[in-house]
Amino acid sequence: MCGIVGYTGSSQAAPFLIEGLKTLEYRGYDSAGVEILDASGRLRGVKCAGRVSALADRCKTEDLRSTCGIAHTRWATHDAPTDRNAHPHESCDGRIAIVHNGIIENYRALREELQARGHTFRSETDSEVVAHLVEETMSGAASGNLLEALRLATRRLEGTWAIVAMSADEPGVLACARKGSPLVLASTEGGAYAASDITALAGVTSHVLQLDDGQLARMLPSGEVAVYDEQGDAVAEPDSLDIDWDASAATLGGYDDFMAKEIAEQPAAIERLLEGRFADGRVLLDELTLSDEQIAQIDRVYVVACGTSLHVGLLARRLIERWARIPVVAVAASEFIYEDVLVTDHTLCVIITQSGETADTLAAARKMRAAGANVFAITNVLGSTAARESDGVLYIKAGPEVCVASTKAYTAQMVAASILALLLAQKNGSMATGEVGRKFRELRHVPDLMRTVLDRSWQAKAAAHDFEHASSALFIGRAANSATASEGALKLKEVSYLHAEAYPAGEMKHGPIALLEPGFPVVAICPRDNVRDKMFSNIQEAIARGATCVAVATDGDEDVAAVASRVMWIPECPDNIVPIVAVLHLQMLARYVALARGCDVDKPRNLAKSVTVE
Ligand code: G6P
Repeated sequence: MCGIVGYTGSSQAAPFLIEGLKTLEYRGYDSAGVEILDASGRLRGVKCAGRVSALADRCKTEDLRSTCGIAHTRWATHDAPTDRNAHPHESCDGRIAIVHNGIIENYRALREELQARGHTFRSETDSEVVAHLVEETMSGAASGNLLEALRLATRRLEGTWAIVAMSADEPGVLACARKGSPLVLASTEGGAYAASDITALAGVTSHVLQLDDGQLARMLPSGEVAVYDEQGDAVAEPDSLDIDWDASAATLGGYDDFMAKEIAEQPAAIERLLEGRFADGRVLLDELTLSDEQIAQIDRVYVVACGTSLHVGLLARRLIERWARIPVVAVAASEFIYEDVLVTDHTLCVIITQSGETADTLAAARKMRAAGANVFAITNVLGSTAARESDGVLYIKAGPEVCVASTKAYTAQMVAASILALLLAQKNGSMATGEVGRKFRELRHVPDLMRTVLDRSWQAKAAAHDFEHASSALFIGRAANSATASEGALKLKEVSYLHAEAYPAGEMKHGPIALLEPGFPVVAICPRDNVRDKMFSNIQEAIARGATCVAVATDGDEDVAAVASRVMWIPECPDNIVPIVAVLHLQMLARYVALARGCDVDKPRNLAKSVTVE
């Protein structure tokens, strides 16, 4: 995880570095730090445990005037989030400073080796070894050339990294290296920029360079960025990408928090995603770069994802099996590495990842590609590693998602999975063209159905009262909505720290029912669908044990209204649409409960949005 930024140019570095860190704070917020080259040619850093706002406060009393600097926001992997362990890290002589995102797996051996040669370490992090290695190569084989020093140093590293280094001996130069952790660069008239992802650069450029694994770059104050390969040879045409995100999309825009903003943005996001996806009776998904014949031959699909995206995967499994009649395995990417995969010449692997950088998901995709499967990514972030390493990519176009807990990406990914399932069904003949068109028209109603639910936010707000004194909650649902229950419980846990468990409602009697006592909150997803009557029975079983039932039900279901303590109503909609619409109530419920408990909904403790460690 962690977010890194760097700047060298003609403007003051600190304002960009601090603002950049704020944009990247979703990647980690255990500690933060900034380092600049001052007018006397010395490197000077300010760093502290806590959030970027704490760093910004400290920086107000420091003289950070400089046109070259690097900065970092940390999600701790090795040792505590203390001041000492915050980045940037310096070499013994204080003339090299580095920021690092990733994990140096062989850091213990390197640290011992460097200590034996007289290096003194100031932190317990894995990253600090990089500063000391660069110190040695800078004064040795690289003879004062920072980029070459970094290149030689990275040859000693095992693991993953995005590194930006600066040196008092090459004033104004920044050197970067990348392997396994994201890093984008920008070359502008005002200087050269580096950042962990494009959101931090959206305000300064609409065109970024992307380093590939193994590549390095030298950034100069003139704005020049030169890219090199592992051997140190210049790369003539590095990968680049045009950013079409508006920088203001990552600002609050009048909302109290990003979670509220992103919940409200869902209808517009779905409209963008559906645009141009259906014409002349056919689903359009050219991004799946297989021939019609190859698509028709797909005999097995693996859907791999983590967290909220995994819940999309559980729904994707149902849609693909039901509509395209292809067997699907949906599995958590972190578990996938232990699975025996059965790959044929006709196996499709679908990875679902908002950030496109989740290490476990990327590892799963690599495993499937190596086994011969075609890998298709559903992701939000342009040019992300998932997008670049897949055979095809469907961008969900949800715009920057800043709140750590995913909301708009969840529903957009579900719609994307629906489009994919319809395409497979159409191409392999499992679904008649007319039926495909009907299903697509149903998807077009989703934005308006969502708007109706958003207008009913008071229902979730009222229901939040039932959680005020709770220490735990149970979410139940059946069929597709057992995944909705899982997502509702995950959202509540993430942002309110209230323990919540999700169970398929039919399984409640095999254990969780023992938890129920008077006042215990049970959230039941009970739309009017083909399992509604069984769900209604489960609600009654819970109420019979004194549970306080908060139901999600379809307009007009008076039976549910009569027994539940609260109902969050959804409009009538087809079974496959319900999970996309009902979850909005659960997102709002989680937010209201979190606010009532005084939690920071956008930055829950211990979490990070982009989980780049396995
Ligand atoms: C983290 C985030 C979750 C997200 C999960 C998967 O845990 O906090 O919100 O669902 O990673 O992320 P991805 O970017 O792969 O969808």
